[in-house]
Amino acid sequence: MRILFVADVFGAPGRRAVEANLRDLRDELRVDFCVVNGENAADGRGITAKIAQRILAAGADVITLGNWVWGQRDFAPYLSGTDRVIRPANLSPNAPGRGLVVHDGVAVINLLGQMTLSPFESAFTAAERLVEEARRETTVIVVDFHAEATSEKVALAYHLDGRVTAVLGTHTHVQTADARVLRGGTAAITDAGMTGPHDSVIGSVPEGAVRRFVTGFPVRLEPATDDVRIEGVLVECDDAGRATSCVPVRVQAG
Ligand SMILES: [Fe+2]
Repeated sequence: MRILFVADVFGAPGRRAVEANLRDLRDELRVDFCVVNGENAADGRGITAKIAQRILAAGADVITLGNWVWGQRDFAPYLSGTDRVIRPANLSPNAPGRGLVVHDGVAVINLLGQMTLSPFESAFTAAERLVEEARRETTVIVVDFHAEATSEKVALAYHLDGRVTAVLGTHTHVQTADARVLRGGTAAITDAGMTGPHDSVIGSVPEGAVRRFVTGFPVRLEPATDDVRIEGVLVECDDAGRATSCVPVRVQAG
């Protein structure tokens, strides 16, 4: 089975790149299942029901989210009613939505890292429970670990090695050069990158982002527009859910 993971879709440029190219990319890479992280799809801050539906219509099987899950008002009712869009599983159990879904024989789990993102529960504790739950239904399990720290992302991949098909890092938006399959058969990359404008500071217009750092003021960040790429990773696995390859994807889209 070939699984395409599309890294954090950022703003309108990222959305357009997905809508214009995902179908062709699925065909070209002979993709059986596609997961898209859409947590920055609405101007860099969360996602709306309409955008989620458009990304699903463009070829995503499941959409994952992250720290901006509540970034758009009125998204919660949609999240409560869908089984194709998931939010980090280690938020409060009382929050709307879910963090694990099994769709077409593939389980997708979304988790949030502890460093700077402050989830309700440790991702490592939540993962134990969720992986057990997922394995009752399927052997093919993809984890989107939305986290800031490299160490935390690498550690979760080792923690789950041999128990899941892939642990794919998101959130930091710069694709790392460590796509690999660990000894136990789990594919891993510290960060899958960003689907959006790369002439930017992780998606935003550089001037505003730089001014924030120089002045310390909460300057409003606007999505950038240029050097749009689709980034992510292509994971291949066998029937037992063991990864056999993990290669980065980087496609120029404008
Ligand atoms: Fe994020």
